[in-house]
Amino acid sequence: MSGEDISVLLDEKRIFKPKEELVNQTNVKQWMDIHDIKDDKELYKKAGNWEWFWEEISKDLVEWYEPYKKVVEWKVPYVKWFVGAKYNIVHDAVDKHVKTWRKNKVAFIFEGEPGDVKKITYNDLYIEVNKLANSLKKLGVKKGDRVGIYLPMILELPIAMLACAKIGAIHSVVFSGFSAIAFRDRVNDCDAKVVITCDGFWRRGTKVYLKQQADEALENAPSVKHCVVVKRTGDGIPWTPSRDVWWHDLVFNSPKECETERLDANDPLYFLYTSGTTGKPKGIIHAHGGYAVGTAYTLNWVFDMKDTDIWWCAADIGWVTGHSYIVYAPLILGATSVLYEGAPNWPQPDRWWEIIERYNVTLLYTSPTSIRLFMKYGEDWVKKHDLSTLRLLGSVGEPINPEAWIWYYKYIGNENCPIMDTWWQTETGHFVISPLPITPLKPGSASHPLPGLAADVINEEGKPVQNAGGNLVITHPWPGMLRGIHKAPERYEKTYWSKFKGLYLAGDVTRKDSDNYFWIQGRADDVLKISGHRIGNSEVESALVSHPLVAEAAVIGKPHSLKGESISSFVVLKKGVEPSDSLRIKLQQHVSNELGKIAKPDEIWFVSDVPKTRSGKIMRRVIRAKALGEEVGDISTLANPEAVDEIGKAV
Ligand code: PRX
Repeated sequence: MSGEDISVLLDEKRIFKPKEELVNQTNVKQWMDIHDIKDDKELYKKAGNWEWFWEEISKDLVEWYEPYKKVVEWKVPYVKWFVGAKYNIVHDAVDKHVKTWRKNKVAFIFEGEPGDVKKITYNDLYIEVNKLANSLKKLGVKKGDRVGIYLPMILELPIAMLACAKIGAIHSVVFSGFSAIAFRDRVNDCDAKVVITCDGFWRRGTKVYLKQQADEALENAPSVKHCVVVKRTGDGIPWTPSRDVWWHDLVFNSPKECETERLDANDPLYFLYTSGTTGKPKGIIHAHGGYAVGTAYTLNWVFDMKDTDIWWCAADIGWVTGHSYIVYAPLILGATSVLYEGAPNWPQPDRWWEIIERYNVTLLYTSPTSIRLFMKYGEDWVKKHDLSTLRLLGSVGEPINPEAWIWYYKYIGNENCPIMDTWWQTETGHFVISPLPITPLKPGSASHPLPGLAADVINEEGKPVQNAGGNLVITHPWPGMLRGIHKAPERYEKTYWSKFKGLYLAGDVTRKDSDNYFWIQGRADDVLKISGHRIGNSEVESALVSHPLVAEAAVIGKPHSLKGESISSFVVLKKGVEPSDSLRIKLQQHVSNELGKIAKPDEIWFVSDVPKTRSGKIMRRVIRAKALGEEVGDISTLANPEAVDEIGKAV
């Protein structure tokens, strides 16, 4: 985030008060009435007794097979929630609904990019999940085994996740926009026994042949015994008969009933890989019980989910937003959700507005990047459609600039819908800092930690700071908290728990204003945020260096009006290699092949050296300052201060 953006945020003084008629009928207000709580002050205060609070909250949301003995057990940095309970999240997401009137309620309205539509009820979902769960068992998948899922936004993706969870297997979903190599690395890190993919899918009117990418990955994935393939496009694809099986053949004749595995509430539900400052992506571990309570609670209160709502979280299930708020939380609450396969501006920039109008969407949750994209197309595309069903809006993934916030409020929400700016992370599992529909809003601020959650902003000495940037920390454990990093306990402890004793370090620079509103200003570490997606600077650097002509690379993020940040890289070529425009394009393509399109550098500058410390650490901060024309500070300790000038000349 640039200095200019920060100063805009600092100047933001507007306050949007919630409308009385909305406040009175909210889920949070009703809960307050039942618990004899007068106002939000008292609510936050009472929720400060967080063990009591989570116990109360969990009662309305989940059903244990066997009750817990203790709400929480906290031995820094490891937590257990609802200790001793027998549980499976699939019971709440699917099984319980088929015993009620919701059996015939639509769970998902799927719309493919070409326009094909399919609606499935909770009962349909129950049957499909059971059939696949039985089939996975037939393939030898057992409790604790890992299943790699490489699927686009089609109904089989939530079905596959739920089928794994049902039998106690751990799913590891890899975003379908990631490359074959990225998929392979993740499959190998978790030693997946089975992977699930599809022949291809639609994106911007063309087909993406995902099976070919999966095949490339599986050439070097020794743990994988079977590859289950969904037929989506119907085109001919390469086939390995000893390994590959069509989904429809596999589930054909598979029994429609499958007993849900009674797990320990703290057994792992999934791994989801996310980027960090250094090294390989981290396999973040989430567990069944606490995660179910935390995700369902936050969706229920923040978005005020009612049975009459049509919910659309327009993220991809390949990211945590989709895991928590397309799959698990809405299903636990028995909601009807929209699932859209394609690009937001295909075939025209009003595809989303068309979808909202067609299905009477009432709650929309998206990212600032998408909002800025639609702003660019202009409000005339919006005005062609009736969006009057909308009642609440949401934002996630990156700081929302007040200009985008106001545009969203005015043109999408018709000045009627509060905007829930939700701050959270892959690691947190669910919202941590977010307004409630009863909270006065300040555009650009995620407002306060939710009831039951506690966060603060502290300086390097660990002292709370106000009206100045500091480290965002979470000060006590929360139900959806990550349980570790797969195969890397030391990294888990070091990354999140070593800087400030007993406090979770989020890695974001944040400011708390005089009214205790939190303003998230961007990452404090070397993690990029491209269109709200996390990519490690070091991952892009390694991808560049893996090209045979590259000797060294340094990658920085630059402010970008649409994507929030863009990727700028400084590349040192091997001796004797001449820089050229064609090589620049080849390197961009190379990174795209290694990591996926979203990680493709926007800029590549050829330099003869990059600034480094005497111990050889690349000084990204210095490079960034120089490239942005900011003050670089003292560079006398660098091994090669002259390299800084070269950066200045290159850009
Ligand atoms: O920098 C923060 C930013 O996204 C990071 C987490 O990224 P990821 O794990 O990919 O999860 C994204 C979706 C939950 C955070 O450390 N971030 C997320 N939400 C916000 C945000 N920054 C500002 N405002 C937000 N509402």
